[in-house]
Amino acid sequence: MSVQTGESAAKALASDIKGKTVIVTGVSPGGFGAETARILALVGAKVVLAGRSLSKIQAAAQAIKEEVPNAELKQLILDLGSQKAVREAAAEVLKYDGPVDVVILNAGVMGTPYAKSPEGLESQLATNHIGNFLFTNLIMPKLLESSAPRVVSASSVGHFWGPFRFDDYGFEDGETYDKWAAYGQSKTANILFAVELAERYKNKLTVFSCHPGEAPTGLFQYMTKEDFEKFGDNFNADGTPKGDWIRTVEECTVTYVAAGFDQSIADKSGSYVKDGKVANEQAAPYALDKESAKKLWDLSEKLVGQTF
Ligand SMILES: NC(=O)c1ccc[n+]([C@@H]2O[C@H](COP(=O)([O-])OP(=O)(O)OC[C@H]3O[C@@H](n4cnc5c(N)ncnc54)[C@H](OP(=O)(O)O)[C@@H]3O)[C@@H](O)[C@H]2O)c1
Repeated sequence: MSVQTGESAAKALASDIKGKTVIVTGVSPGGFGAETARILALVGAKVVLAGRSLSKIQAAAQAIKEEVPNAELKQLILDLGSQKAVREAAAEVLKYDGPVDVVILNAGVMGTPYAKSPEGLESQLATNHIGNFLFTNLIMPKLLESSAPRVVSASSVGHFWGPFRFDDYGFEDGETYDKWAAYGQSKTANILFAVELAERYKNKLTVFSCHPGEAPTGLFQYMTKEDFEKFGDNFNADGTPKGDWIRTVEECTVTYVAAGFDQSIADKSGSYVKDGKVANEQAAPYALDKESAKKLWDLSEKLVGQTF
């Protein structure tokens, strides 16, 4: 796609988006999720605004309603960091009338200080992968009601910061925690999840992982002075971006629109999308490895205590 913003991409694909029910996770104002929800509502999608904070969901809903008064919106409280909360949210979705056509698994955290989820998992792994794994699998009956369901798994070029650490995904219970390797592991998991999900639901579900692009959002809130020094090629000491790598949120959402709705890539299920195009050659080979994808699925089932 040669369009410049998510909004222009959505307008170009409006006939494929209009009327579809789309769950967008992580819709905090200023981030990719809120902008994606806005542009999808603009072209007539029924959007489920999912997030862990009711006030942020309401803020996103209000902003959309001001621009698109007849937007069809639903709100869903979803805390991906807690398996119990994910199960409650999924139970809500299973009560919806009609199918869920597309899920955009956008929510995530980056570089958080060491913490454990209520189930005892390292928190970036719990939030960025395990929560998405459980939520997607639990709402699968609703997705499969759609004639052409899709799942978009937001990864990042940050997956290059680390493969999945099958032998020590918990960083020795935090003893050897490295917040960037932990983010990398979780973002690698987002790609591996898409690979295995596509394999398991071949001809039933289309799945893409993606790198949406870099833009200043709430994602950067945990970066410290030391982090800006560590990534000194990209940041000044005060945290302002250096160079021309930063794009706008409006541009980055192009990739979600393509991954979620572009029919011309529908036969590439399981692929990694970047800049609105299938770009497997730009993903780390370890993130697209089929054996690792299967292994991660098995481990994830173990960690949520349920097989799918
Ligand atoms: N921005 C970038 O440069 C960039 C680059 C590559 C990839 N990405 C990916 O893009 C996605 C969106 O990031 P963004 O840049 O738009 O950042 P953002 O504005 O911080 O959005 C992340 C969203 O995830 C939500 N979230 C965090 N923890 C959650 C939890 N436990 N349960 C449910 N929701 C939770 C946040 O909610 P709260 O506001 O309540 O925390 C927020 O709504 C992420 O997956 C990220 O890895 C971003």
